[in-house]
Amino acid sequence: MTMKSTLILVSFLTLVYGTPHSRDLLVHERRDDVPHGFTHKGPAPADQTLTLRLALAHTDVGGLQDALYDVSTPGSSNYGQHLSKEDLAKYVAPTPESAAAVTSWLSENGLSATVLSPAGDWISIETTAAKANELFDAHFSKFVHASGKETVRTLSYSIPASLKSHLDLVHPTVTFPNIELSNMPLASVPLPLSAREPSSDTAPLSCNNYITPKCLQELYGIPSTPATQDGNQLYVTGLEQNYANRADLRAFLTQSRPDMSPNTTFAFQSLDGGQDSQNISEASGEADLDVQYTIGVATGVPVTFISVGNVQDGDANNLLDLTNKLLSQEKVPQVLTTSYGDNEHNISRPLAEKLCNAFAQLGARGTSVLFGSGDGGVSGIQPGNCGRFVPTFPATCPFITAVGGTRLVSPIEVAANLSSGGFSNYFGTPSYQVAAKQAYLANLGQTKLGKSLRGRYNASGRGYPDVSAIAESVLIVTQGESGLIRGTSCSSPIFASVVALLNDGLLAANKTPLGFLNPLLYSEAGMATLTDIKLGNNSGCGTEGFSAVAGWDPVTGLGSPIYSKMASALGL
Ligand SMILES: *[C@@H]1O[C@H](CO)[C@@H](O)[C@H](O)[C@H]1NC(C)=O
Ligand SMILES: *[C@@H]1O[C@H](CO)[C@@H](O)[C@H](O)[C@H]1NC(C)=O
Ligand SMILES: *[C@@H]1O[C@H](CO)[C@@H](O)[C@H](O)[C@H]1NC(C)=O
Ligand SMILES: *[C@@H]1O[C@H](CO)[C@@H](O)[C@H](O)[C@H]1NC(C)=O
Ligand SMILES: *[C@@H]1O[C@H](CO)[C@@H](O)[C@H](O)[C@H]1NC(C)=O
Ligand SMILES: *[C@@H]1O[C@H](CO)[C@@H](O)[C@H](O)[C@H]1NC(C)=O
Repeated sequence: MTMKSTLILVSFLTLVYGTPHSRDLLVHERRDDVPHGFTHKGPAPADQTLTLRLALAHTDVGGLQDALYDVSTPGSSNYGQHLSKEDLAKYVAPTPESAAAVTSWLSENGLSATVLSPAGDWISIETTAAKANELFDAHFSKFVHASGKETVRTLSYSIPASLKSHLDLVHPTVTFPNIELSNMPLASVPLPLSAREPSSDTAPLSCNNYITPKCLQELYGIPSTPATQDGNQLYVTGLEQNYANRADLRAFLTQSRPDMSPNTTFAFQSLDGGQDSQNISEASGEADLDVQYTIGVATGVPVTFISVGNVQDGDANNLLDLTNKLLSQEKVPQVLTTSYGDNEHNISRPLAEKLCNAFAQLGARGTSVLFGSGDGGVSGIQPGNCGRFVPTFPATCPFITAVGGTRLVSPIEVAANLSSGGFSNYFGTPSYQVAAKQAYLANLGQTKLGKSLRGRYNASGRGYPDVSAIAESVLIVTQGESGLIRGTSCSSPIFASVVALLNDGLLAANKTPLGFLNPLLYSEAGMATLTDIKLGNNSGCGTEGFSAVAGWDPVTGLGSPIYSKMASALGL
């Protein structure tokens, strides 16, 4: 008896002291179901080590956005006066109260944090699954994907009520890695190419068969004269063990840019142990495309391939590490192109907001950040079944430039039906886009198409893409063979190359680089430098999707570049 009551007493005590904070804990993020393809395989072992990232609230998110617009909006007195690392910190660093509240809560729980970002807004802790479950009232579990890959996640977590205004999120928790995407990076659908070599007298007709840098020079008026500014940097993101091969690049330049030295190559930067495999059988169509259509289009601009390792935790972590790395540099690259993404709803809203904010920071520092919009038309990153249209991220982040896809050179460039576009469910309409979007929606509302699409999209969200470029039948060399590739993975490096060449001219004229592009592109002067694409649509979800029309549309954005008009609008 005594024994028993002691036991009861002991266990009661355990209950009381074991979860002393539970009354203060508030659910912070949760998801209702396990994503398609994953199976719950029981709790994570109690002693399994977890590395969790904590995002502290920024001092002044509104201030950051104002500062970004201030340096990016033509006509503003601070246009082009991009922020230094120190200037930026005053908006982004957590307040001393937030930092103290989170650190003291961690140390009460026997944990110490490592700072991950230059402004101190991202920290990480290492703990066990058992401890994390207690701390965050979570159930970290093993989930196995159909591919066999295992991942540890929780379907919900809580944080103390007192930290609500100090701690934005904990990751990885409810956002799962998109393993399907890992096997199929945005775009890269290699098609066999007939043995024919491209002829050197590329008439417009052959550019309808396959696109080469020469076709793009003709179509968009891109100069072939080499850029001159060594300080100009065009960065190409490499994720998910996609490696760019130098021998493929050399073969591509020999074939498609005989006027350039075949020795022209990329610089390499490794992040999180990212590799630079030059084993030809590990060359990736995606990465080969990305370097071939930057080096081969932005003639003479220094290109860096940045390979991000640590693929275990998925793209969100990779993109976080990438932005933190670039933001920690005294000098940021003037252009960053990334051909990877995910469906917006696959990333939790707080995490998407935080990532989007990191892109805003890069923009404020002077980087033009471009992403492909995705390859599934209105059904998201890849074709799929859906009722409501599926927007893609980071394309829906209002602080990046999302590049959609087009096809054909003659008689006229039209929308590629793979071009993802639509409206965000997370981000509202940015000020620079209000007029363009309203004009589109007002017009759509009066059409039969508009009535048939009602309820499929969120008209209040940020519309994407912003611009577009060729996305079909693009010639590359990969693993020693020529092939045609399609996807907005082609469009982003092409548009990025145009921006990089314009920056070369600006730097040569002692002017500042373009930085965040959208306020300029959506201005009247900016729109006049683009070819408005008015034909085609982005089918998906069992519909024909949206239609490309005069003015901005959620298929091709404002249109494709006209280099000479862009250059003269910039006084070059
Ligand atoms: C991503 O989105 C697709 C399409 O909606 C869905 O089938 C899949 O389960 C999601 N994957 C993850 C990892 O969230
Ligand atoms: C390319 O590099 C090789 C080996 O370094 C050199 O012999 C050759 O002259 C270079 N070609 C050009 C066009 O610079
Ligand atoms: C090259 O990569 C392939 C595929 O990953 C591998 O089987 C092969 O052993 C590698 N070769 C070398 C020399 O590392
Ligand atoms: C999309 O366009 C391609 C050609 O670019 C065509 O083969 C395909 O059938 C089209 N798909 C739909 C759903 O219209
Ligand atoms: C629609 O988009 C807005 C952002 O403009 C968002 O706040 C809202 O939650 C979205 N609605 C749905 C149903 O997703
Ligand atoms: C969508 O595009 C296809 C192929 O280009 C075309 O046949 C169809 O008429 C278009 N639909 C609309 C509604 O514009």
